[in-house]
Amino acid sequence: MTLRGKLITLEGIEGVGKSTQCEFVAQTLRALGKRVVTTREPGGTTLGEAIRGLLLDPKLPAMAALSELLLMFAARAEHLAQVIEPALSAGEWVVSDRFTDASYAYQGGGRGLALSTIAALEGIVAQGLQPDLTLLLDAPVRVALRRARARAQADRFELERAQFFARVRQAYLDLAQAHPGRFRVIDAVPAVAQVQAAVLQVLRQRFP
Ligand SMILES: Nc1ncnc2c1ncn2[C@@H]1O[C@H](COP(=O)(O)OP(=O)(O)O)[C@@H](O)[C@H]1O
Ligand SMILES: [Mg+2]
Repeated sequence: MTLRGKLITLEGIEGVGKSTQCEFVAQTLRALGKRVVTTREPGGTTLGEAIRGLLLDPKLPAMAALSELLLMFAARAEHLAQVIEPALSAGEWVVSDRFTDASYAYQGGGRGLALSTIAALEGIVAQGLQPDLTLLLDAPVRVALRRARARAQADRFELERAQFFARVRQAYLDLAQAHPGRFRVIDAVPAVAQVQAAVLQVLRQRFP
């Protein structure tokens, strides 16, 4: 019997360094001999990436919050079925740039949808699957957005106001407090190498 792999997720607002640290986590685990799949949400599958295109399209600003949530969960259902579950069953470790916590933070905290609505969808779609570890990269909104905005064109979320991201950040911090066993909050303000050192310390502690 193959030992089931583990699911590690990275969360945080735009520009905190999720993609950067996602690669670092994967490299670190590979160096330890693990088989690792890196992936992202929304996306990670052909259908999911098409849904991502709709979700991030800055020319579609008027989407209802519930439509946004349902599209996120449609992409997530596909991601779980096609990528996450098969990999974990095969003993691979999955490192995902965002997962269900992002729905609570963005569509709950950011857009104001009821947490019970999100929890109901989580129950249907994730069926109890929780990450083994969630790294919340945390930085003040202005620091993160400065980094994000140095990138190419802003997507539909990046066009939101600082107040939106302040709510998203707070929702993430609330999630971390509510699930202290699963979450580790990492200060994302220092230089990349320092954040990597903090990430490494958490990985060593959680997976000795
Ligand atoms: N700790 C850091 N200090 C300074 N710049 C960073 C740091 N981490 C990432 N960056 C840079 O900030 C930008 C956003 O990082 P990225 O990993 O794409 O963030 P995210 O995926 O969370 O949006 C990139 O240009 C990246 O090189
Ligand atoms: Mg990214």
